[in-house]
Amino acid sequence: MIKKTLDEKAFQLLKEKMEQGLFPQWVLTDPDIYELEIDKIFGHTWQFLAHETELKDSGSYVTRWMVNDPVLLVKNRKGEIKGYLNSCTHRGTQLCTADHGNKKNFTCPYHGWSYNLDGELIGIVAGNKVYGEEMDKSEWGLREIPQVASYQGMIFGCLDPVAMPLEEYLGDMKWYFDILLGRSDGGMEVRGLPQRWVAKANWKATAENFAADPYHVQTTHRSTVELGISPEDPLYAGYGHQIVTENGHGINVITSKTGKARVPYQGTPESMWPMFKKNLTPEQDEILSGVTVFVGGVYPNLSFVSPIHGTEGHLHNYLNFRMWRPIGPEKVEVWCWFLIDKAAPEEYKEAAYRGYLGSFGPTGTLEQDDTETWARIVEVSKGLMMRDKELNYNNVSNYLMGFDRVEPDQSFPGPGIAYPTTYLDAISRSMHENWFKLISKDLFVKEAVK
Ligand code: FES
Ligand code: FE
Repeated sequence: MIKKTLDEKAFQLLKEKMEQGLFPQWVLTDPDIYELEIDKIFGHTWQFLAHETELKDSGSYVTRWMVNDPVLLVKNRKGEIKGYLNSCTHRGTQLCTADHGNKKNFTCPYHGWSYNLDGELIGIVAGNKVYGEEMDKSEWGLREIPQVASYQGMIFGCLDPVAMPLEEYLGDMKWYFDILLGRSDGGMEVRGLPQRWVAKANWKATAENFAADPYHVQTTHRSTVELGISPEDPLYAGYGHQIVTENGHGINVITSKTGKARVPYQGTPESMWPMFKKNLTPEQDEILSGVTVFVGGVYPNLSFVSPIHGTEGHLHNYLNFRMWRPIGPEKVEVWCWFLIDKAAPEEYKEAAYRGYLGSFGPTGTLEQDDTETWARIVEVSKGLMMRDKELNYNNVSNYLMGFDRVEPDQSFPGPGIAYPTTYLDAISRSMHENWFKLISKDLFVKEAVK
């Protein structure tokens, strides 16, 4: 039995289990593990903040969170995107309290200190009278987020100044982002505001559900079969490829029984197809023309899904990005963005947005299905008997699915390790291996004898 403590022996036992492809259930809700994750995972990896179309003009800003760190993301006069800690340098209150907007300066609601778009302190109320001439304002600017970078319009931040650059961190996932985000002239745009809500869930379970688990679709979302939206075939979400890329990232390219999509290019208007071809490589175009659903994730807490929705003659496709912000071992704040090709016809964008609201938005049917399951996982994972229960412990069950049985498909046209089905746990294992590698880094390293 693995003891629910974080001593060296417990970690050795955890390591042995992980090496066998087993994942102890208690780590899903353990508060000590959660604290380690905040520090060792979220303190060093890249986290998604916003899409560039949310910051259109000079002075546009949005406020976001990197777990517990409040972020003020601003476009300055030079057109650069800057990230600041959204906390006043005077007495520390939240500086900008709105979710988004446009400003020339940010004035603190507490004592009125103000900062420009470059984070410099430019105004102090009654400055000369209160502080005299000695106060050096240049020392009291806003703290910058150590790294902010973007790829294909997606802006990420990292709290570790020496972490590898974003593009290196994304690795082969960039090739798939080029399809999802770079297929259209002008790229994608965010429509509406990101919606957010709190779910009873652990971030590892939600991230895995999206990035790695098409196997749940046929059961959890059974209603879509009963409504005639999805096929009766129980393997329908398993056709296609599951691709593992670096650093715990992965993507599922779901097709259909024939190996091709129901409709070309995910039901997008035919007038857009030549544009896709022009912007993609032949290999990327081959994948996009034949895919039904892309679903995957960037470790640790960004997931995405690009489905086909609607009925014959009224099909549409959109891209949903979602960030799972941990707010405790048993809670996540879900941040959910709807993205659509900027170049798409306006009525198509509107129809796709309505489809999103009815499926993956906060009131969407698919969302409700998943939320209920996540809450129940949290609810049942805290008991004494959970301390020696692994997910799952024989070689035909979940986390061992595909172990030594499915070989990578060398003929798949994209990068990464591509397996010829999505009903396996290749991405799950990669995520959990990465999880263990990150949380155990520098733990129990013996001090050098002086
Ligand atoms: Fe911001 Fe005092 S806390 S001005
Ligand atoms: Fe689901």
